Amino acid sequence: MKDYIATIVKNEKIAENIHEVTFDLGEKANVRCGQFGNISVEGTHLLRRPIAICKVEDTKVTFCYQIKGEGTQRLKMMGAGTRLNVLLPLGNGFFVEENEKKIALVGGGVGVFPLISVLRQYGKDKDVSAYIGYRNKGAVCGVDEFEKANKFVGVTDDGSYGEKMNAVQAFEADLKKGNRPDVVLACGPTPMLRALKALTEKENLLCYVSLEERMGCGIGACLVCVCNLTNGQHARVCKDGPVFNANDVEL
Ligand SMILES: Cc1cc2nc3c(=O)[nH]c(=O)nc-3n(C[C@H](O)[C@H](O)[C@H](O)COP(=O)(O)OP(=O)(O)OC[C@H]3O[C@@H](n4cnc5c(N)ncnc54)[C@H](O)[C@@H]3O)c2cc1C
Ligand code: FES
Repeated sequence: MKDYIATIVKNEKIAENIHEVTFDLGEKANVRCGQFGNISVEGTHLLRRPIAICKVEDTKVTFCYQIKGEGTQRLKMMGAGTRLNVLLPLGNGFFVEENEKKIALVGGGVGVFPLISVLRQYGKDKDVSAYIGYRNKGAVCGVDEFEKANKFVGVTDDGSYGEKMNAVQAFEADLKKGNRPDVVLACGPTPMLRALKALTEKENLLCYVSLEERMGCGIGACLVCVCNLTNGQHARVCKDGPVFNANDVEL
């Protein structure tokens, strides 16, 4: 992990309320899929913003972010050449075992973005199916990446793109047709992960979820991001996660 002084190469809108920013770190970073960066939004007293690492190409790292509050509003305004502190790579990321050949990616909302990094890391060697849920047609993004999967099912809450359903329902429909993965990797809003956990428990499927918690330091020191484990203990989402076995965390 290193606090890079990173230069923005590109920062542009890719969908309704979603931007993509690419930084040049000046050197190559060793990043695992599902890890994240903590971006310092220039010239403010604000806490850093944790954002999943979407793509790594040579010395460049790309993040996709939804415009939400003050931090992401500021980031949106920054053009090429702006230099920011970006701490990365953070968190544990997703690991797929050698014997896990068939992967199902289930993502919704901003949880879609870390799954792009999974597909980039494992797409060549594994049989990957991606079930991706968007709010509506305007929010659809990352399709050029997800179409590289063996199977891509994009759906929306209102049916304006793909079928009218959520990502978990799309996954379940395919499961019923016999497309059973060795492992499910997921990221998205908590209600989505809760529904997925119930389904994978019922189906006895191995499932890992990437959690989103409010964060401070991002490196395990402040305990802002603590979540509850099913064994009664606690874990830091930034350092022990953000990826957990779904059976181990309370959702
Ligand atoms: C591990 C991880 C990966 C993430 N990856 C992405 C991603 O790839 N794309 C994306 O758009 N968003 C992602 N998020 C959510 C993102 O961090 C928040 O949307 C963002 O921090 C909001 O900042 P803001 O200043 O615009 O909003 P504000 O609401 O003004 O933020 C106020 C404070 O709350 C924190 N905060 C607000 N919402 C969240 C949230 N949902 N999760 C964590 N902290 C929050 C902010 O960091 C800030 O400290 C991720 C969060 C985590 C924890
Ligand atoms: S954000 Fe500080 S311990 Fe996780």
